[in-house]
Amino acid sequence: MDTQVAIIGGGPSGLLLSQLLNRAGIDTVMLERATRSHVLSRIRAGILEWGTVELLRQTGVDARMEAEGFPHDGCYMTDEDLMVHIDFKALTGKQVMVYGQTEVTADLYAAQDAMGTTIIHEVEDVQILDLDQAKAAVEYTVKGERRRLTCAYVAGCDGFHGVSRKTIPAEKRREFERVYPFGWLGILSETPPCNDELIYCNSPRGFALASMRNAHLSRYYLQVPLTDKVEDWSDEAFWSELKRRLPSATAAAMETGPSIEKSIAPLRSFVSEPLRWGRLFLVGDAAHIVPPTGAKGLNLAASDVHYLHEALVAALKSGDESGIDGYSEKALARIWKAMRFSWSMTTMMHRFDGEDAFAEAMRRATLEHLAASETARRELAENYIGLPY
Ligand code: APR
Ligand code: PHB
Repeated sequence: MDTQVAIIGGGPSGLLLSQLLNRAGIDTVMLERATRSHVLSRIRAGILEWGTVELLRQTGVDARMEAEGFPHDGCYMTDEDLMVHIDFKALTGKQVMVYGQTEVTADLYAAQDAMGTTIIHEVEDVQILDLDQAKAAVEYTVKGERRRLTCAYVAGCDGFHGVSRKTIPAEKRREFERVYPFGWLGILSETPPCNDELIYCNSPRGFALASMRNAHLSRYYLQVPLTDKVEDWSDEAFWSELKRRLPSATAAAMETGPSIEKSIAPLRSFVSEPLRWGRLFLVGDAAHIVPPTGAKGLNLAASDVHYLHEALVAALKSGDESGIDGYSEKALARIWKAMRFSWSMTTMMHRFDGEDAFAEAMRRATLEHLAASETARRELAENYIGLPY
């Protein structure tokens, strides 16, 4: 089989890139390791930067987001009962959209099906070959049969555990990593959100986040030790601890209920350079991981897709290779700024084992400074709503 662009991975990165390329008349084949139902069962973050919203509009996959998504003008940063409102709209003129990544993924799969795109699920043993030849090749096994796909370019959209990044020789890769000494215990509950906007809570007991999916579905997170297991946390224990970290008035008024999903995720910052190796281009989690504190995971994947889509269209339609030659440098410039913001939000809002009273005082002073300085609030808002592409 032959195509113009082989896409490894059917998550948000692969789907968004494939949809944009197909709309530009470029043929793609997508190879996904999991079943579609497994991909669509993943619970991920729910904040879209406005750049991501515009990109989804550009793909024509925005109808349900417009109908069911919630534009948010701001969020709160708190330290016990100190609540600082970050008014994105007033400070930057922009909003963010609350719309679950799972919904974005489902919308993109529906759009790709409507386009008749070739998406092959449950592929195994994917190998990426001939990246330095006139045509690249991807070999894979599906239903016990070994197949070979030739293509002009390969998009590595296969996430942190995929094969694409590892196809670049280790000695040619430069990797940067920070593994945080805690995780996020998250629950989904069919309860009304405790606040109209998100609340990022710093407290002497650790970080908490109050988020939402819609008026009847809330998403909450607690910083927990890496040694904790989901089974260590009953719903009652979760709600009790969350209320001790939220501002007291919010905690007193909130509605609790049974969790319909509960999981613990580790936090890491990671970047692998370069994003290109011959005819292979890395996109999204295949190249970088951010802690969820800044809500940047999906949104960084979106800006990678924006840059690579433009570069591949120019190369395949006009023979102009300047975009693909500049992709890695251009995408990394935005990646590193988002990496910094996510790291800064994480270190600003979480307790670290063994820290002294000074560290806690610095976190409190950071919130006090945000409360007092419009400039500080604007700096945070500009990063949160998303730096320009
Ligand atoms: N072959 C084919 N598919 C693979 C392989 C492989 N060897 N390895 C992984 N995959 C698939 C995974 O099953 C997954 O569906 O690649 C997809 C990668 O999707 P994500 O991990 O979601 O990464 P990405 O599409 O870049 O989206 C980034 O997703 O995980 C969140 O927080 C992350 O919000 C961010 C977003
Ligand atoms: C979520 O709603 O899942 C969410 C929101 C904001 C974050 C992280 C997760 O920073």
